[in-house]
Amino acid sequence: MILAIETSCDDTCAAVVDGAEIRSNLISSQDEAHAKFGGIVPEVASRHHLELTVPVVEAALTEAGATLDDVDAVAVTVGPGLIGALLVGLSTAKALAAPRRLPLIPVDHLQGHVAANFLAPEPLDPPFLCLVASGGHTLLAGVRDRAGHEVLGQTLDDAAGEAFDKVARLLGLGFPGGPALQRLAADGDPEAFELPVAMARDPGLDFSFSGLKTALVYLCRDLGPEGVVARRADLAASFQAAAVGQLTAKLKRALNRGGWEAVALGGGVAANGPLREAVAALCEEQGARLKLVPPKLCTDNAAMIASAARYAPSLAYPEYLSYDAFASSRPPLPA
Ligand code: KG4
Ligand code: ZN
Repeated sequence: MILAIETSCDDTCAAVVDGAEIRSNLISSQDEAHAKFGGIVPEVASRHHLELTVPVVEAALTEAGATLDDVDAVAVTVGPGLIGALLVGLSTAKALAAPRRLPLIPVDHLQGHVAANFLAPEPLDPPFLCLVASGGHTLLAGVRDRAGHEVLGQTLDDAAGEAFDKVARLLGLGFPGGPALQRLAADGDPEAFELPVAMARDPGLDFSFSGLKTALVYLCRDLGPEGVVARRADLAASFQAAAVGQLTAKLKRALNRGGWEAVALGGGVAANGPLREAVAALCEEQGARLKLVPPKLCTDNAAMIASAARYAPSLAYPEYLSYDAFASSRPPLPA
């Protein structure tokens, strides 16, 4: 049984996972705390994690009907993410594991998004392509075994979710903007404005979202404040169509290169309805199997961290006491 902690961004998450079975998977969202700033403030996130991590871990154990005596290992996200936020989770994991001499399993956050697909009730066996699109990352992962993934392409600038959040803000929507933008777009015409589907002619598998965001900024400037209010739904729908268009175009290119029969989605943007529909249509057209985990396992959560931990090397006491978190560049995990 693995107790997992995830505090890489603004959600405080803890889960208890037994094999591939989720016994509990709790998320304490800090959205309200950050909404008034229009985005995540790293120091505010760290302070909230400090207050919330222990109660969320206790609640996850209670919901699982377990105590720390039942836990075989403690898993924790060690990066990439906000360094102060990561350190709260890592310190808590060390403090829980060390007195009981439990092993600690450091987990890469992005491998966590991939590993959400290995959870019950219908675990997906590699090989598969996994599109991970969140507020901090956008990448196309080639998954050939359960222990890791190869980055086939990634964003060269903004993450997809970051673009949704920034455009949502431009349109006067709250934070996080993705879900609100999707709701607004439902009433708009996706062909109202012609927006660039970035990287469309680029032969590689990388993504770019900053040009699309800038195109929206200029469009809003040209429309003026009243024009923007009048055309909000059309702007949202056109942006969403361009963003979804780029994500699916790259997925299609990767499928066309061959060797992949299954596709999975991860990250907060994978909760986007039109993206899920577009990827489903693409998979049907290409004859690929599609695995869609529930939205709660797409956004940041600790069950996916426990799932990745099952296939990751663990550290014995006391060697993990000096183990550090990383914000962006990944140090080698223990062999
Ligand atoms: O994976 P996640 O929970 O946290 C990060 O690791 O970033 O992803 C959060 C991101 C936010 O940018 C949010 O706006 C976006 O996912 N998001 C969505 C939707 N739901 C969440 N974007 C588009 N449509 C949605 N329905
Ligand atoms: Zn994430």
